Amino acid sequence: MQIIVLGASAGGGFPQWNCNCRNCAGVRNGSVKAVVRTQSSICVSGDNCQDWVLLNASPDILQQIKSTPELQPGRMLRDSGIAGVILVDGQIDHTTGLYMLREQKQRLPLWCTDPVYEDLIQGNPILKVLEHYCGVDRQVVAINGSSFEIPKVGGITFSALSLDSKAAPYSSHREQSVPGDNIGLTITDKFSGRRVFYAPGLGARNDAVFQRMCEADCILVDGTFWTDDEMIGWELSSKTARDIGHLPQSGKGGMMEWLSELPVHVRKILIHINNTNPILDEASPQRAELTRYGIEVAHDGMRISL
Ligand code: MLT
Ligand code: MN
Ligand code: ZN
Repeated sequence: MQIIVLGASAGGGFPQWNCNCRNCAGVRNGSVKAVVRTQSSICVSGDNCQDWVLLNASPDILQQIKSTPELQPGRMLRDSGIAGVILVDGQIDHTTGLYMLREQKQRLPLWCTDPVYEDLIQGNPILKVLEHYCGVDRQVVAINGSSFEIPKVGGITFSALSLDSKAAPYSSHREQSVPGDNIGLTITDKFSGRRVFYAPGLGARNDAVFQRMCEADCILVDGTFWTDDEMIGWELSSKTARDIGHLPQSGKGGMMEWLSELPVHVRKILIHINNTNPILDEASPQRAELTRYGIEVAHDGMRISL
């Protein structure tokens, strides 16, 4: 299977349009060694590398398609390498790109859980609006571990696991999470048996997630914040990372501690990185610490072959 990181940033992107934090200002004026990143999405292909599944539809999708030849039309007048879309939650950074796919000729094949579907009909009614354009052909993502396939994208299977995280602010279950608000996806190559685990919004550790990570050859997991009080420290929010469903990397019980317990053969990559996170600065001590732990930081255009 092939994976392309289309956008490695969290909501807001990097630099964020209205942000003057050290990273955002520094990447604009060249004083920080970092690369710009668009908002959160990856795509995956199985045995043909012509038909791809989009995992999350980023608001930056048009820019992402422009920089990814694999997704561009090549076979007929109206065409796309995107065969379907799977959503891991109903957040703005993962869903509003659906609007940009409205010129799709047939209904857009879309996989999501029931709670996410509800949010996209009610709190953030993208799917209702899309009915005035291409509409979607919605398929249910079950969270009982059963596997599913995407037509046209041969050679890979998907299986979802409900995660401890947070639904979007406009969700009717923002304060009382329900299973399926956020999922992690295991993608398995049917021929080689190799697996990737993708979980850009992961708020807490538990045994089921740890098991999925141990079984994977490569994980792409929540890299939003370095510290739990990162947004409070910048006086940008009163909420901790955990409050909004993201496990910070540092500190007791943090992501680094957790990932250090994984078998050594698991390739560990952080994704969905917030613009305030010091790991974006390639010269920072925090980035050096990650490197010592054998943890990589995803960037737009990163390609993974398994
Ligand atoms: C999140 O995952 O918490 C989001 O990136 C927030 C957002 O998109 O505003
Ligand atoms: Mn997000
Ligand atoms: Zn910033």
